[in-house]
Amino acid sequence: MHYTLQTLAVLLGYSLLTKADTTTTINPDTDWGTWEGWGTSLAWWAAAVGPVEVIAELAFTTNWVSYDGGNMNVPGLGLNIVRYNAGACSWNTYDGVSMVVSPGIISSWQMDGFWTDWASSNSTSSSWDWTVDANQREMMRLATSYGVDTFELFSNSPMWWMCINHNPSGSNDGTDDNLQSWNYESHAIYLATIAEHAANYWGITFNSVEAFNEPSSNWWNGLTGDQEGCHFAATTQALVLGHLRTALNSRGLSSTLVSASDENTYDLAGSTWSSLVNSGASSNVGRINVHGYQYGSGNRAGLYSLAQAAGVALWNSEYGEADGTGAELASNLILDFRWLHNTAWVYWQVLDSSSWGLVVADNNALSSGSISQKYYVLAQFTRHIRPGMTILDGGSDNTVAAYDATNQKLIIVAVNWGDAQYLNFDLSSFSTPGRNGALVPRWSTQIGSGDQYVSYHDTYISGTKFWSYFVTNQVQTFEVSNVAL
Ligand SMILES: *[C@@H]1O[C@H](CO)[C@@H](O)[C@H](O)[C@H]1NC(C)=O
Repeated sequence: MHYTLQTLAVLLGYSLLTKADTTTTINPDTDWGTWEGWGTSLAWWAAAVGPVEVIAELAFTTNWVSYDGGNMNVPGLGLNIVRYNAGACSWNTYDGVSMVVSPGIISSWQMDGFWTDWASSNSTSSSWDWTVDANQREMMRLATSYGVDTFELFSNSPMWWMCINHNPSGSNDGTDDNLQSWNYESHAIYLATIAEHAANYWGITFNSVEAFNEPSSNWWNGLTGDQEGCHFAATTQALVLGHLRTALNSRGLSSTLVSASDENTYDLAGSTWSSLVNSGASSNVGRINVHGYQYGSGNRAGLYSLAQAAGVALWNSEYGEADGTGAELASNLILDFRWLHNTAWVYWQVLDSSSWGLVVADNNALSSGSISQKYYVLAQFTRHIRPGMTILDGGSDNTVAAYDATNQKLIIVAVNWGDAQYLNFDLSSFSTPGRNGALVPRWSTQIGSGDQYVSYHDTYISGTKFWSYFVTNQVQTFEVSNVAL
């Protein structure tokens, strides 16, 4: 054992040596929801690279994974949620009509869809091709074998032939709806049929289905777009949501949630949701999905209030940025825990270029490379705050707390943005604040560079507190045992 000053202080009972610069009091009386988990979307990276075993292990297990030809031992992230993307592209010609492709499209961002023409909605007819998109499905199968237990089916655009301009990247100006009005129900049938087929043939029960992606944004332009996308006015969304609920119910999938609307920002999610409440369409929705692209701004608390008022769940269903240091991720994630109170958080791409990826990769060249520092920052959260835990008020803007009732364990993740200092964690509000003198294992990652999920055994409870020294931009995770609320 390495006797730090702190250890000696605890052993000698000198709590006066507690030189904490900032004290955070964890509040056991809060309940910000039961954590459902961490996830990723499989489009586009999994569809591009296919079922690469080591990437699946990194993403979906909490194993220590041998990486880079055995040169590295990397902690798996333990993601338990995958979002499977229902593609919008097919390459056939029907009745002389074929898909219109945006000149700006990136090939690895085109996703093959299953319903290839409008002749029949019968999923066993030749209008459907269930052989496409094998890579994404294979990764979903691997993910399942590693313990992923929560699945969402989502769409970026209706099938191309349902679209006004037959272009699954969006309308010709980006601001108009692109789904033909006579196909509102078809889009719902498309998604519900995939969910039914997945249950019958893939062994996958989708927990939820999302029909839109950033539908109020004005960048889904078929003349310039580099990906699939489609604008939906809130009034159109309302109609599609009704059809989707009905289509799921009629296929025996009444327990599959409809989620909406995957807007780009917290504020757009709030205004769209209010519109759906006004039209009554919100009654078909079981969960608000929002993307985290408003980063440090936006009315997170307002969106939480709307979800609470409606009695629906709330996920941050897509988040990403190009900051490979992990600073943005840590900051925005803590803001979500503190103000949005989402019960799941989904990172957009495990593999991607220019620091968007947790593992830096080129999905067009099918190459993958280094593990970003952001990956290790994320591991500080995902490996410790696990599904089933209750999210508590961490007591400050830089601290997240979760309680594991089964194992009577308190998880604390904190980051120090300021000068190097002790952060002091006050557990005096708990009925049992751990055992005096007990070890508090901790893990450390430094934003930017430095520690990469290093574990330390040098921190002990002193009465109803413990403390740890943080350098600037250090993230630490603590697991306190024998805690009762
Ligand atoms: C769907 O098509 C298959 C053959 O393609 C046929 O056997 C079946 O009866 C059809 N189902 C319905 C409901 O029409």
